Amino acid sequence: LTASMTLDPAFRIAPVHRRTFGSFVEHMGRCVYTGIYEPGHPTADGDGFRGDVADLVRELGVTTVRYPGGNFVSGYRWEDGVGPKDGRPVRRDLAWHSTETNRFGLDEFIRWTRKLGIEPMMALNLGTRGLQEAVDLLEYANHPGGTHLSDRRVANGAPDPHDIRMWCLGNELDGPWQTGHKTAREYGRLAAETAAAMRAGDPGLELVACGSSNSAMPTFGAWEAEVLELAYDSVDYISLHAYYQEHDGDLASFLASTADMDHFIESVVATADSVRARLKRTKRIQLSFDEWNVWYQSRFHDEEPRTDWPIAPRVIEDRYNVADAVVVGNLLISLLRHSDRVTAASQAQLVNVIAPIMTEPGGPAWRQTIFHPFAITAAAAAGQVLRVEPDAPVHETARHGEVPVIDAVATHDPDNGQAAVFVVNRSTTEQVSLDIDLRGLEARGVADCRTLSDDDAYAANTAEAPDRVVPRPNKDIRLQDGRLTAVLPPVSWTVIRLA
Ligand code: AHR
Repeated sequence: LTASMTLDPAFRIAPVHRRTFGSFVEHMGRCVYTGIYEPGHPTADGDGFRGDVADLVRELGVTTVRYPGGNFVSGYRWEDGVGPKDGRPVRRDLAWHSTETNRFGLDEFIRWTRKLGIEPMMALNLGTRGLQEAVDLLEYANHPGGTHLSDRRVANGAPDPHDIRMWCLGNELDGPWQTGHKTAREYGRLAAETAAAMRAGDPGLELVACGSSNSAMPTFGAWEAEVLELAYDSVDYISLHAYYQEHDGDLASFLASTADMDHFIESVVATADSVRARLKRTKRIQLSFDEWNVWYQSRFHDEEPRTDWPIAPRVIEDRYNVADAVVVGNLLISLLRHSDRVTAASQAQLVNVIAPIMTEPGGPAWRQTIFHPFAITAAAAAGQVLRVEPDAPVHETARHGEVPVIDAVATHDPDNGQAAVFVVNRSTTEQVSLDIDLRGLEARGVADCRTLSDDDAYAANTAEAPDRVVPRPNKDIRLQDGRLTAVLPPVSWTVIRLA
């Protein structure tokens, strides 16, 4: 098969937003406990933060981390997680049927983000709690001192304000599974009131209203419209969540998952803009895609419900393969392509729980296959996102209809002239010869071209073989007279860096 596209620095979509490369740490399974935090681990520092995990998080290039949930947050009392550790209560977590020890909480999280140079993004409990607890948490976290709650933070060993700019007004409150699930009207009012009170405390905050939990929700579209009708002036963002998996061996449909992400994003933009027109506003609502990933959710739903209350159990520890990594790389292409409206995103989650990084308690940490496209895209995408308009053969998929065999996006940094192309070949059988017209781009050479693919699309990394699947140099690339040709194997993700 052959395909072509054009790279022109004049065809700009929007700047690359660093917040696109966010992640998510929930008090769920082993994401916190034996994930980022494990006192007594051979690599743990004085705060109990695992050093091997911290090194991998840095390598992953994560810019923001959403915390502490997820479904967990909708029953969480933030006060339980601050102050002397021995005085913290042990509680039941209803969302994941686990026991929460509260040995890790807000102040530890902020210390961890500071050590890693990550921006924290805080989610509020608007399930079992409301406005008062939200403004209390804001006072504790961001007020410099001299008030009851800010002085408690200082007394707890954090003299400087945590300075959290981005706040999620609840989590997935459209979902019947959510503790404190609400109708759009109930939630829209609560979000608007909470946002107004928080802004009275700190006008510079960036606030995210809950959108739909996925694009197949029965209320999708209507939920966004009603929530934004009520909260348009009070919020900056609406959230989107989406998880993808291969169903019934249909690899072609799975590889085309981005068709759903594109549709989801474009539908939310249209809905937000229709509210903008009705309300006669000039402000545009931005999109925070604050949960996205591959997740074999059907396996989780097939499991028997828990009857015990374990501490940090192994929950949804999906092992990712080559095809999963290609889909993750493609989802990042979709997020970048929509950078005009998607200005923040969080891959869910960071460690152990549907995560790019895996650990064993007391043992090693390693990179799953999906680690690689994320880390490379986060490092290589810079400057402006370019529209590339690939011309490629299409193929039929059962779930998404006709889709182009390749999907791509590019970035160009006008400051140093460097460019990067991210491209996937979604054919399950055919290689694609891609021809790129580098019009207007004074590329002197190919600085790097790497492809993630394998004869076995289901090959995965394990603790014993952590580098079974890694991106490898792609030698099938030529640059001549302003044209670049590259051969892309089936089921592959490729990065091309031009200097
Ligand atoms: O990331 C796992 C779960 O998926 C989150 O807790 C929830 O928000 C979503 O349904």
